[in-house]
Amino acid sequence: MSTPTEPVKTQPRYARWLATTNVVTRHIVATYGPDCINLSGGLPAPEIYPLAAIEAATQRALARFKHRAVSYGPVEGMKELRMAIAARASTPRQRFGAENVLITTGSLQALDLLGKILVEPGETILAQFPTYLGALDAWRPRTPTYRRLDWAADPMSLGQAVSGAQFVYCVPNFSNPTGALIATESRQRLLAAAQRAGGVLVEDDPYGALFYDGVALPSLLDLSSDGSEIYRGPVVHLGTLSKSIGPGLRIGWAIAEPKMIEMLSLAKQGADIGTGTFAQGVAVELLDAGIDRAVLPDMLALYTRRRDALVAAAGEHLGLRFDFTAPVGGMFLWLTAKDPALDTDALWPIAFAAGVSFCPGSVFDPTARLKNAMRLNFTLNDEAQLVEGVRRLARAVERHLQAPA
Ligand SMILES: Cc1ncc(COP(=O)(O)O)c(C=O)c1O
Repeated sequence: MSTPTEPVKTQPRYARWLATTNVVTRHIVATYGPDCINLSGGLPAPEIYPLAAIEAATQRALARFKHRAVSYGPVEGMKELRMAIAARASTPRQRFGAENVLITTGSLQALDLLGKILVEPGETILAQFPTYLGALDAWRPRTPTYRRLDWAADPMSLGQAVSGAQFVYCVPNFSNPTGALIATESRQRLLAAAQRAGGVLVEDDPYGALFYDGVALPSLLDLSSDGSEIYRGPVVHLGTLSKSIGPGLRIGWAIAEPKMIEMLSLAKQGADIGTGTFAQGVAVELLDAGIDRAVLPDMLALYTRRRDALVAAAGEHLGLRFDFTAPVGGMFLWLTAKDPALDTDALWPIAFAAGVSFCPGSVFDPTARLKNAMRLNFTLNDEAQLVEGVRRLARAVERHLQAPA
């Protein structure tokens, strides 16, 4: 008879990369009560989610796809949805087909899959700086090295930087976090460098439709189109329904040359075998009915008013302490402190206790050293809440600056 032994307490040996991450995303996506105004997330205004259209699209999807709507589907995505995305991307100059499209579980999954297929531990990613927090999170387990993408670099330096990296990551339309819009000439220069160096350009574009002032600029995908029968350019263009219809659908996509799509699909097979077919079926119906295009005018009008309210409130209450530029699109205002002693990591808990949350700059820096900046969102809250949020933030800033170091 064996002698009873004390059970040994489980001691998982967690992977080392976990020690390098943070919990900011959990706060960003949380919906707060009236006591705390969430200025930290990249969240759309829930009141303009097209719920009636989604309900109708769901019924049509079930009637059209029947058992397919709840079965496993192709890893690459439902053919109908891939075709719909390809048709949207096609121009008179360039035709895209289903072979150019992978449906992903949010565009964040496309970033994760790119890390898996392109980056060995320690290899270099050339990234726009500051860099989208979700991309840094997605690639953390690959332990990449980051180099900053300098849009203004001369062609030779740009070419060298591109050829020294596994790929280039950028958000040319209203970067997350800065809201910056990259000029067409800079896009052309980067593309030319990638074409000379044989590099891959990842163009992450969730905000491309959210232009409040001026007209849309050509995407890297459009600029790289050469009219060939099958697109074989260097751009991997990422899109999503998260900002145009609703992030809970978790429908995103990658558009790229067919071999890249094949490799991404191999990685996706081990991630989730395929994006939920139910959401894909609904997405096909929503896109076929043009719901994203139908809601856009109201969305642009609402977000323009909110952008203006946040910019005005920031000018009034934070202007003494921070520099910023009003964004011409997207969802974010980026503020840089005039006083280098202002540390937005230290400010965060003070602001949270005062009833407002923002995104500290450090989470957009692979080295977490960017301490004197912060990102504010203007799409989630109405104008009165935005103004109140900024007032609370301004009080928290003064408290932080008065606190002993
Ligand atoms: C630049 C950028 N890329 C990707 C994503 C992820 O979006 P999705 O909901 O499609 O995964 C976001 C979301 O905020 C984003 O800002």
